[in-house]
Amino acid sequence: MDYEVGKVLIDDETISTKVGELASEIANCYSGKEFVAVGILKGAIFFLADLVRSLPQDCRVKIDFMAVSSYGASTKSSGIVKIVKDLDTDIKGRDVLLVEDILDTGLTLSYLQELLRGRAPRSLRTCVLLDKPDRRRVDVNVDFKGFSIPDEFVVGYGLDYSGYWRNLPSIHVAKALEGSANKTQPKE
Ligand code: IMP
Ligand code: MG
Repeated sequence: MDYEVGKVLIDDETISTKVGELASEIANCYSGKEFVAVGILKGAIFFLADLVRSLPQDCRVKIDFMAVSSYGASTKSSGIVKIVKDLDTDIKGRDVLLVEDILDTGLTLSYLQELLRGRAPRSLRTCVLLDKPDRRRVDVNVDFKGFSIPDEFVVGYGLDYSGYWRNLPSIHVAKALEGSANKTQPKE
């Protein structure tokens, strides 16, 4: 492995406080209206799980998931992603909240927003835990945002490097190992 877990960028308590704040904003926004929270697998599972459990008891929320994967290097710039698992829910006429771990270039979320908008939900909003504004290639409208972070590759709390370290409770910087040829960010 070319990377190791580096310093903590956002600790678990800080994440938990922020998730509580986001949940209050979301509860206020939907006040009394039922909505479907759609988590993007696998990165968003912990965030979605904590977020919906922080909502007030009278909040009418259902959850569903989508899994996507990038089509590979050649089509990456176009932002075409392959739907590996689609929703079980018909979202036509429903209020939908997309929940994603991190907004990076924006290609994934802009593609998903367009795809879901095409299914005619009553409303479509987006919530991300992390935002790396320096890496943005396409504009993406986000309604609820946790933290803006610098352009560093991060792991933990659902975010992975090659499938590892999603299980860490805090968010860490992934550090290139001494002597490793790979000094670029893992996804490039
Ligand atoms: P985007 O399409 O470039 O915005 O990519 C978003 C996806 O890339 C996220 O859902 C993550 O799976 C992945 N990603 C981007 N930055 C990181 C990171 O720092 N750590 C782990 N995964 C990341
Ligand atoms: Mg992801």
